[in-house]
Amino acid sequence: MRQLKQIKSKTGETGLKLRLPDEVRFLKNWLGNPMRTGAVAPSGPQLAALMASLIDETITGPVVELGPGTGVVTSAILARGITPERIVSIEYNPDFCSLLRERFPGVHFVEGDAYAIRTTLGDVATNPLAAIVSSLPLFTKPPAERLGLLNEALDLLAPGAPFIQFSYALVPPVPEDAGDFEIVRSNWILMNLPPARVWTYRRRAKG
Ligand SMILES: C[S@@+](CC[C@H](N)C(=O)[O-])C[C@H]1O[C@@H](n2cnc3c(N)ncnc32)[C@H](O)[C@@H]1O
Repeated sequence: MRQLKQIKSKTGETGLKLRLPDEVRFLKNWLGNPMRTGAVAPSGPQLAALMASLIDETITGPVVELGPGTGVVTSAILARGITPERIVSIEYNPDFCSLLRERFPGVHFVEGDAYAIRTTLGDVATNPLAAIVSSLPLFTKPPAERLGLLNEALDLLAPGAPFIQFSYALVPPVPEDAGDFEIVRSNWILMNLPPARVWTYRRRAKG
């Protein structure tokens, strides 16, 4: 108990205050819409830190997050040194959006559909983007829709910039032979519940 109280988040909330309500919030939203929420609990800090570490610090421009939920990955992106003003984050769920706006001042949260990424971003983020960090539950959508999102996202990115996606599955959410991109696969993050891994997609260099 004392140990939990000592854990402080970036926003100054205690570990106890931060974790319990977020897990309850997730469960409530998952029960209401399991396909859209995609997980019964927020990702663990190890998975979030791995995703953020894959952002290439040498590429300038906005960093776009898809499906922030209660903000564990947003927090890791900030901890990676990306300033709040560079982050634009798209979340479908209005309750999560209100919480995120309180929790992360300066980050731009857009309430909308990440599958229509270009339209939803509008002119909020100027291309080319430095990275896209996605926690969307891609396997709940048909393969053609996943591929459509990935292609649109890769077209918004700077050359060599990553589309970073986690999943709990054995296979990538979009296979490498489906398009003009390369995939780098991480090791399993066993500390996450359930264990997860990260798939990093990049457009193949021309020529
Ligand atoms: C698996 S949760 C991940 C949440 C958080 N990033 C984490 O790792 O704990 C997926 C999130 O994506 C959001 N989401 C699902 N479909 C979406 C869509 N089409 N557009 C925007 N957000 C969406 C859900 O509301 C949920 O917050």
